[in-house]
Amino acid sequence: MRPSALWPSALVALAHTAAAVTGAAEGFAKGVTGGGNASPVYPQTTAELVSYLGDSQPRVIMLDRTFDFTGTEGTATETGCAPWGTGSGCQTALNKNDWCTKEQPNAPSVTITYDKAGILGITVKSNKSLIGVGNKGVIKGKGIRMVSGTNNVIIQNIHITNLNPQYVWGGDAITLDNTDMIWIDHVTTSLVSRQHVVLGNNPSGRVTISNSKFDGKTSWSATCNGYHYWGLYFTGSNDMITLKNNLITHMSGRSPKVAGNTLLHAVNNYWYDSEGHAFELESGAKVLVEGSVFQNVETPLQSGGSGQLFASTSAASACSQYFGRACEANGFGSSGTLAGSDTSFLQYFAGKNIASATDYNTAKNVFNTAGFGTF
Ligand SMILES: *[C@@H]1O[C@H](CO)[C@@H](O)[C@H](O)[C@H]1NC(C)=O
Repeated sequence: MRPSALWPSALVALAHTAAAVTGAAEGFAKGVTGGGNASPVYPQTTAELVSYLGDSQPRVIMLDRTFDFTGTEGTATETGCAPWGTGSGCQTALNKNDWCTKEQPNAPSVTITYDKAGILGITVKSNKSLIGVGNKGVIKGKGIRMVSGTNNVIIQNIHITNLNPQYVWGGDAITLDNTDMIWIDHVTTSLVSRQHVVLGNNPSGRVTISNSKFDGKTSWSATCNGYHYWGLYFTGSNDMITLKNNLITHMSGRSPKVAGNTLLHAVNNYWYDSEGHAFELESGAKVLVEGSVFQNVETPLQSGGSGQLFASTSAASACSQYFGRACEANGFGSSGTLAGSDTSFLQYFAGKNIASATDYNTAKNVFNTAGFGTF
């Protein structure tokens, strides 16, 4: 065969080598392989993307463009409500599951026209890697959804944005419910309607969320102040979440809310510029926060909650028994405090894959490294 006939396939092979997951998951989802060595596919349309994510083949799906779902399912006009007022900076809400009628009977009614594609995320089945190329992998107008037994998925280096941000109940960016072994890495979410990440009430199993940027900057907020209220919602009945090296910024609440039966290891994250609360803990929350920075965060922990929290402002030896090292202290700048001294739940870390931790000062670098397009 002539060399000229060989070169193209050699180039294709090179391209395939480049189309791999970068790094590996740390913490609870360590060992996740996603689509493994499957030949990468490059969807060109929203329909192709939906098909690749939803079929039963192991796949490595590369995103090298913006997939704009806005308008793909049409719009709907319905009566909703304005629980936080009708000011231009306030979110209004769809009457989803009669939420307005039942929960907000005194809120004024408003007419809402929303984009239907945003309501329900794209179904992602098992054994998939969804990987953005450089800073090109953007999904606009629709989130992603892993439910009903999906396991072994890697989502890396993509941006999910513009899900009916004016309205509550208009869509979540990333949904997990009844899953196992999910790794979300170097993902950015912005301008969402409801949650940036929601782990529903069914077990989500082992999850690692790393190097991601949850950006709550918005013109429509439930707190009417440009800060998104619905951040991260972790309420599964059997969830183990490693939350490491993430930038959680411009939120006014639920960043995260933790309940159900959730063991959360929050390590080396950077909470930055939040009005309102970061952590909201309820019964069943088992939360270790270490090596993290809270900068300009009004209320790192909402008062009046329950659940279990260990967050020491000085290095704590209580972790040594399970981690083989002391826990790292957290750092605070122009912020409220986060103190928790319950060590009784640390036993649940025994035998699990535990993410490493560094001094909280290194978490400040997260400002530059978190999110998509930063490789
Ligand atoms: C995912 O891959 C694993 C390992 O190859 C395989 O055992 C399993 O059946 C796959 N799951 C699905 C739903 O295809």
